[in-house]
Amino acid sequence: MIRTTIKKRLASLLGLALASTTTVAFAQPQGGPQTGIVFRNTVTGEQLDTAQGKEGGRDTPAVKAFFETGRNLYIDDKACLRNGESLFATSCSGCHGHLAEGKLGPGLNDNYWTYPANTEDTGLFATMFGGANGMMGPHNDNLNPDEMLQIIAWIRHLYTGPAKDAIWLSDEQKKAYTPYKQGEVIPADAKGQCKPLEN
Ligand code: HEC
Repeated sequence: MIRTTIKKRLASLLGLALASTTTVAFAQPQGGPQTGIVFRNTVTGEQLDTAQGKEGGRDTPAVKAFFETGRNLYIDDKACLRNGESLFATSCSGCHGHLAEGKLGPGLNDNYWTYPANTEDTGLFATMFGGANGMMGPHNDNLNPDEMLQIIAWIRHLYTGPAKDAIWLSDEQKKAYTPYKQGEVIPADAKGQCKPLEN
């Protein structure tokens, strides 16, 4: 949040500077959409190119907002959780456990992270997109960014740690937070931002 504020200040400062100069030929760089967030490989720090990998899932309002602000609008959205549960089961649970409790890979449902950047959804996205060490390979070939946001929402939903560390939740969501309990069923026709997955 602090970073966003600084960025906004910078942007407005720049705006002022630009407005007060007479040079008009200030061309925007050509190419892909402007990205507010720079994603970096969790281990090497190398910049990730979010255009790479599985096609699609880059023009949804949620992905656009996420690339701009780092905020995942799918958090707590039932329709996205329904999809995220199924995507997580296919792509992640074999190594991380059905409830993300940890298996071959570490648990993702508590407040301990090997890479503290994963406390933030942007970090989780980068780890999924670009991979980490060993068996944790990049998943951008089999998941597009929109699907990754749905998985992130599901991983956050499985969280059982203290609410104070759940920085992905808004203050309101924190108040309503209860640790995940096994046995919950999300209806197949749950309404929200995510359409049912195509199989
Ligand atoms: C083939 C097994 C395997 C699969 C599949 C797999 N992971 Fe991993 N994952 C690992 C291993 C092993 C590590 C530890 C790597 C390290 O420490 O660098 C890891 C690490 C991670 C971490 C870092 C956790 C921390 O404490 O910082 C995250 C986040 C993660 N995986 C998410 C996912 C997600 C999301 C998926 C599904 C899209 C997935 N993984 C699929 C094996 C796997």
